[in-house]
Amino acid sequence: MSCHKNVYITTPIYYVNDIAHIGHAYTTIIADTLARYSRMSGLDTFFLTGTDEHGQKIEESAKAKGKSTQAYADEISATFKNLWDDFHISYDKFIRTTDKDHKIGVQKAFSVMHDNGDIYKDVYKGHYCISCETFFPKTQLVDDEFCPECGKSTVIVEEESYFFKLSKYQDKLLEWYHNNPDCILPKSKRNEVIRFVESGLDDLSITRTSFDWGVKLPENFNDPKHVMYVWLDALMNYVTALGYGTDEKNMRYWPARIHLIGKDILRFHAIYWPAFLMSLGLPLPKHIAAHGWWTRDGEKMSKSKGNAVNPREVANAYGLDNFRYFLLREVPFGGDGDFSQKALIDRINSDLGNDLGNLLNRLIGMSEKYFEGNVDCINVNKFYRAELDEVEASIEKLEPMLFEMQIHRYLEELWRPLSVANKAIDRYQPWTLMKEGKEEEVMALNGLIAVILAKVATMLYPIMPEISAKIAGALHFQISHASWNHLIKEKNMLDPFKLEKIPPLFPRIEEPLLAQSEPGNKKPETKTAKKEEQKNTGVALIGIDQFFQASLKVGTVIEAEEVPKSSKLLLLQVDIGEENPRQVVAGIKEWYSAEDILGTQVCMVANLKPAKLMGLKSEGMLLAAKDSEGLSLIRPEKPKTAGTPIG
Ligand code: ME8
Ligand code: MG
Repeated sequence: MSCHKNVYITTPIYYVNDIAHIGHAYTTIIADTLARYSRMSGLDTFFLTGTDEHGQKIEESAKAKGKSTQAYADEISATFKNLWDDFHISYDKFIRTTDKDHKIGVQKAFSVMHDNGDIYKDVYKGHYCISCETFFPKTQLVDDEFCPECGKSTVIVEEESYFFKLSKYQDKLLEWYHNNPDCILPKSKRNEVIRFVESGLDDLSITRTSFDWGVKLPENFNDPKHVMYVWLDALMNYVTALGYGTDEKNMRYWPARIHLIGKDILRFHAIYWPAFLMSLGLPLPKHIAAHGWWTRDGEKMSKSKGNAVNPREVANAYGLDNFRYFLLREVPFGGDGDFSQKALIDRINSDLGNDLGNLLNRLIGMSEKYFEGNVDCINVNKFYRAELDEVEASIEKLEPMLFEMQIHRYLEELWRPLSVANKAIDRYQPWTLMKEGKEEEVMALNGLIAVILAKVATMLYPIMPEISAKIAGALHFQISHASWNHLIKEKNMLDPFKLEKIPPLFPRIEEPLLAQSEPGNKKPETKTAKKEEQKNTGVALIGIDQFFQASLKVGTVIEAEEVPKSSKLLLLQVDIGEENPRQVVAGIKEWYSAEDILGTQVCMVANLKPAKLMGLKSEGMLLAAKDSEGLSLIRPEKPKTAGTPIG
């Protein structure tokens, strides 16, 4: 790390066609984690995020909402910025591609590329996917029409266009990949990119004439009907944010240490972007790191599929830091992860509650009971050298893992010191030591636990800033560059202190805190070309115990009525063998009348946290399946006693 004094970290700039889901939060939180670590370790850090606001997709979204494009972009861009602010994302700049300085920078880049002989005018003829804002040659289309990336129908474009000589850079790109084995992370992704480039690069159409919402060409081109291709415009944000083409003083942060992205946009970043930079004569980024997808039921989460999880709701219900921990711990970087509340609850109760929170509680308990809250590390080395060595060995491995994007392994390794501490308590049994009058050893044990918690809290800070600050507060120190230096770099102990009692950090969560979305709440798919995607996503596996956390029961509907003023809801009383029937508000009225369902049997999730729908309490959810033909309830094939468990 010491060889890179400036650290520049970026997220993609997100399209303003809809609000953020947990996929966007994931990227931004990883970037925030890296930026926080980088600052804590004393490096001069610049962290950029923002919104991508031009292009046909945004223009059409605005039209569909009946708004002016700029007003629409302003509105959605603000929802991203507000979300990141509420999430305490520590960005240094939030760029918008509608910013004036950005547009000036993009125009300058266009001129420089042109002056270098890399731009020429011709006619583009072919297919364009508006959703992906990507041109595709016919050979890549599915059934001659559909986008190979997202499955939507493409449009045929035939228009005058400026082209960038991408083909000219093929060999130079290959040389770059070969000479920089970790320029693309995870490394397996680099091979994909190399194969793609080796198969040959076509020149790239970089202007459009059929719509207006974009950056115009520089004045001296005298070609007002052209606007820049949105990906040229968007990628340039990484340097215009540092003042490229305007006030260049922040260009000292260039090249980027890490461009953090999802794998959906790897080609743009690993092929077009370095080629543009070569043409501009700018250095290339150190790393482009592409993570996998968050899925629901094995399908990529996206706004257009209607299967998105709202990050704000999850963070509000479960705690922001807990949510951050879950996102980073649950999935190896580069792999896909299926979002479920069960998995989240498991992480909170087990890793955070049992391993971390309880350790602090045990320390608070023991130091109160035996030493009036006083903790002293003076004899830790004397009695617990072996434990300390084990802890230091783990801590030393951490930093490189972070910058190699092995964050789940970082967290796994960071949990080892906690297990050293928990094991030490079980092994040395302070209560027995006290009976034997070995107070010094017990104080040293408490010192060991305290110093372990202090080191873990420091290294956990980039991932869980608020919780770590609370732990540090209990241990009477503040997390900062100085404490990082003291505890991590120089491997020091804590000075004697009096423990601050704090309430438990991770109260146990017994059941999901968010109402589940309605069954089969997804929009029907357009024609899909998902073989590639399915291969990549694969449904996340759960253990049988996770499955049994859901209580599924057969029930008999003993009352059914319509919910007044609702076209979707029925109000049911369902006997599931308990003293009273359960009231369930079910969104099935389009497919079942109250009469249809009365007296029939259903399958129900019986341990959902109650929710309110149209002011009515709902104490369960019916199992159902929905496809393009409509919705069907899942029922037992033969009648079963009300309350029979399913599983
Ligand atoms: O592509 N799982 O913007 P975008 C994980 N404007 N991450 C996901 C995700 C999912 N299901 N869905 C989205 C664009 N993301 C362009 C980028 S950059 C110069 C221009 C995250 O709004 C992930 O980081 O479609 C992905 O790359 C990004 O959001 C795409 O956001
Ligand atoms: Mg997208």
